[in-house]
Amino acid sequence: MPGPKRIPVLGSMWMFLPVIGEPLDVSKVLELNQKDHEKYGPIWRTKMPGFPDIVTTVRAEDAQAIFRNETKLPQRPAFSVLQKYRQDRPQYFTSMGILGNGESWWNTRSIAQPALLKPKNVMDYIPALGEISDDFIARIRLIRPENNEMAANFVTEMYRWALESVGVVAFNTRLGCLEPNLAADSETMKMIAATNLSFSSFNELEFQLPFWKYFDTPLLRQVYEAQDFLTETAMKYTKKTLDAIKDRPEDSVDQMNILEQVLSRGLSYKETVAMVTDFLMAGIDTTSHVMAFLLYFLTRNPEKQEILRQEVLSAVGPRGSPATLQALNKMPYLKACIKESLRLTPATVGNARISEEDLVLSGYQVPSGSLVVSFHKITGVSEEQFAKPHDFIPERWIKGHPLESTHHPYAILPFGFGKRMCIGRRLAELEMWQLTIKILQNFKVEYHHEDIGCTVRLVIVPDKPLHFQFIDLP
Ligand code: HEM
Repeated sequence: MPGPKRIPVLGSMWMFLPVIGEPLDVSKVLELNQKDHEKYGPIWRTKMPGFPDIVTTVRAEDAQAIFRNETKLPQRPAFSVLQKYRQDRPQYFTSMGILGNGESWWNTRSIAQPALLKPKNVMDYIPALGEISDDFIARIRLIRPENNEMAANFVTEMYRWALESVGVVAFNTRLGCLEPNLAADSETMKMIAATNLSFSSFNELEFQLPFWKYFDTPLLRQVYEAQDFLTETAMKYTKKTLDAIKDRPEDSVDQMNILEQVLSRGLSYKETVAMVTDFLMAGIDTTSHVMAFLLYFLTRNPEKQEILRQEVLSAVGPRGSPATLQALNKMPYLKACIKESLRLTPATVGNARISEEDLVLSGYQVPSGSLVVSFHKITGVSEEQFAKPHDFIPERWIKGHPLESTHHPYAILPFGFGKRMCIGRRLAELEMWQLTIKILQNFKVEYHHEDIGCTVRLVIVPDKPLHFQFIDLP
């Protein structure tokens, strides 16, 4: 299989050594893979220290071969930094939680999944997530300068909204992230800082020569401090919920909210703490940036923004009308806009598995134990799969529309696949539906600066400030 030259010990990492090559910049994962794709074709093999052979493919047929035949416990590469942290903190953790692998992953997943993926359970949060979006609109009005254009740090406002939204499920409480004048050392702001730091440091540490596995490096110390803070906060709120359900009758489980259900169905206190911390880790940087890109595409395609606004006004009603379940069920264009935004800019560059059996990908034998990656950030914009692939055309996702796309069903899997599919998918979608509806009921959104591209911090993030203008509708 083609790919960069591999040498013993360093694998393909020699390319990033001083003098011989260019230093590895992990935020450039996308560009590096694009270059590899141009050089080697649709599939290539690399080797990095500490990882098995890495096989990356942009062919949808290969993605199908990777994901279709799932084993009982499909494996995704775990974040080894998080793994080390949790092993070093036996007082807090008994397992790696839902981001780990094997039986301990399934133990959490099998209890959490019915609670998080059952539509009714998530739809019960429609009022709470609606209120959070209302608060976000009020906050936009509060912080908006006279020229309506948001300041360079607007992305942190998106983090506040995403944390408040995931917090209402994970911590069973309103954290108050959208309140005015939050101090930098408030619990909420510290949580946001801790998740951001964890994300960018995981990205950096995972792809470095792994000195941190043997030495206590300054960056590792910072990650431990951030993780300690998140864990201790998760412990506090999990304990509160445990106390609240102590005396509830067992047959009331179906009436309980998600966290209460998980605890009542037997997930231990420590496993629940790991799970809710994972929800924060997985649910802030993803939803906030995906939502930011959706707004960006709507500003760049004002005619699509207007079609969507007309759907909002007709299904939900004008400013102040709440989005009910019935209204949400009548909004195909909203769902199409989100799918289209995720096609152009998914949250992750791809989906990965450690293969547990030998595979044939693009005609090559790939032995079990390899790290196989379907790189949908490239497949999603390939001409082979999508007409006018770089254009924002939500209509391609609408059944029966003349522009309906005929792409391969595995070309883009923004929430992953199968047993390891994103467990927060329904929640994330509901969060984004609610916020998009409220924004379009209230504002025309514009953006008048350079095009926004992407950079990678484990997840894909915008590479420029989000100077959106929120202009009041008459
Ligand atoms: C637009 C927002 C989001 C996107 C695009 C997204 C995407 C993904 C993807 C691609 C995966 C890997 C799936 C796989 O390997 O097959 C994943 C896993 C996961 N996501 Fe999300 N996610 C989002 C929001 C959330 C939220 C809000 C939560 C909070 C509950 C969450 C929790 C998780 C968890 C816990 C996993 C690991 C599941 C497992 O391995 O069993 N995600 N997500």
